[in-house]
Amino acid sequence: MYDLVVIGSGPGGYIASIRAAQLDMKVACVERYPTFGGTCLNVGCIPSKALLESSERFAEARDHFADHGIEIDEVSLNLEKMLARKNQVVSSLVQGIDFLFNKNGVDGYHGWGTIIDENTVEVTDDDGETQTLETKRILIATGSKPFELPGVEFDKENIVDSTAALEFEEVPEHLVVIGAGVIGLELGSVWGRLGAEVTVLEYLPEILGGRMDTQLAKTAQRLFKRQGIEFVLQAEVTGAEVEDGKVITTYKHDGEEKTIESDKLLVGIGRRPFTDNLGLENIGLDTNDRGFIEVNEHYETSVDGVYAIGDVIPGPMLAHLAEHEGVVCVERMNDIAGHVNYDAIPDVVYTHPEIASVGKTEAELKEEGVEYKTGKFPFKANGRARALNDTDGFCKILADADTDRILGAHIIGPRAGDLIAELAVACEFHSSAEDIARSSHAHPTLAEIVKEAALDVDDRKLNL
Ligand code: FAD
Ligand code: NAI
Repeated sequence: MYDLVVIGSGPGGYIASIRAAQLDMKVACVERYPTFGGTCLNVGCIPSKALLESSERFAEARDHFADHGIEIDEVSLNLEKMLARKNQVVSSLVQGIDFLFNKNGVDGYHGWGTIIDENTVEVTDDDGETQTLETKRILIATGSKPFELPGVEFDKENIVDSTAALEFEEVPEHLVVIGAGVIGLELGSVWGRLGAEVTVLEYLPEILGGRMDTQLAKTAQRLFKRQGIEFVLQAEVTGAEVEDGKVITTYKHDGEEKTIESDKLLVGIGRRPFTDNLGLENIGLDTNDRGFIEVNEHYETSVDGVYAIGDVIPGPMLAHLAEHEGVVCVERMNDIAGHVNYDAIPDVVYTHPEIASVGKTEAELKEEGVEYKTGKFPFKANGRARALNDTDGFCKILADADTDRILGAHIIGPRAGDLIAELAVACEFHSSAEDIARSSHAHPTLAEIVKEAALDVDDRKLNL
């Protein structure tokens, strides 16, 4: 009898399994794919970041090495090698999970997990062989799958989701992307840097769909346009067809029906929670009207002994959030106090420049009627950014007008994803802007921009 069976081995499930085993629980983790690691390690965060890194280096060598006095006659692309490197990064990390499961005594099972009742999970492998796991508790960490747009069916060749867009064997001449969200911008950047013409069709009037502070979204759109990415905002896609190897996408824009032809069409319009064939009906557990499993702050579902975390529950779909929820969930099972502070979860888009955010946006604070002060500092006045030749963007800190407590922080610029960590810790510790302003930041580093923005909350920035 297991103490806990975890269904799904993404960042939510595998981390929860390890933490539970550390707490002396007897744990099994069930994964339907042949490798552990879920969306994030196999077809999400890791392969996309490997390609973002490689394509950024390629574009830097092609377009900007000469600025440093490094002259190369011709930079050429070996796409096969770039994709093989990406696959190597993925396989080394997924093998790492086998190692971690062994080290911590987690029993890993490969096969489809079906909940039979509150204390039984059946695992069916690809050959149809089944095993029955008896358990005291079940944790559902089955993640998400891409949404398909009616009239735009995936064919895995020309009309694709993010997984297939990590595997194009040739750089498309023209890539059309539906959705100016994180996937559209990250993968649009990859193929744009490698030479594709990229057009993004977005339903809303703004890129990044309100996920980021409007000032960041507007700045990002201007910078991406400069990189050659075209945006058609307020475009409603109504269908797509493949004719002679080309995709013809139809959309409504400015009151007219228009078409656009491309070699590939990437659909990045969001992801849906994945609970297919999980057996929720066997325990009388319903999903909400959007397909998510509702939980309380201890990640308990409405069924005793059954828990859920990660992309399958409502909230942002982020790997580090799924991990965090997994840890808190199993710690609560062991009566260890803890909670997830959703106001201190960083959100990063790994384009160039990177876009990073934590806490409230200005729009949210205005809507909530909270009085706040703003501090802002541009990368162009930061010595290290100048040395890097990477000066686009800024850091903005929003602090409570009375208490000076940091309520939100937003950065667009080089390594924004790393810089936001300091501000996420500040939010978690309820720090004031003054706390950051009085802390020493090494010189010359990009991190000095955070200190300067904090100083600017009190109108006393030093280097501008
Ligand atoms: P998942 O990682 O989706 O894992 C769920 C696992 O459960 C899967 O392996 C699935 O096969 C398995 N499963 C489902 N049903 C069953 C069943 N019945 N039996 C057995 N196994 C089952 N987030 C970030 O924070 N940073 C990023 O840079 C980032 N980049 C991304 C890039 C892309 C292209 C994509 C698609 C996503 C990205 N994300 C990123 C989002 C991130 O991948 C998810 O938020 C995260 O993986 C969610 O973790 P999870 O554990 O909830 O689910
Ligand atoms: P998303 O929710 O980020 O963006 C979808 C975009 O598509 C929105 O701007 C939306 O307005 C638009 N859209 C929706 N329907 C449309 C239509 N019919 N026509 C035109 N536009 C339409 O979703 P995305 O990019 O697919 O990512 C899925 C999830 O994966 C996100 O929740 C994200 O958190 C996660 N992810 C995270 C990453 C990161 O943290 N760096 C990277 C990639 C994905």
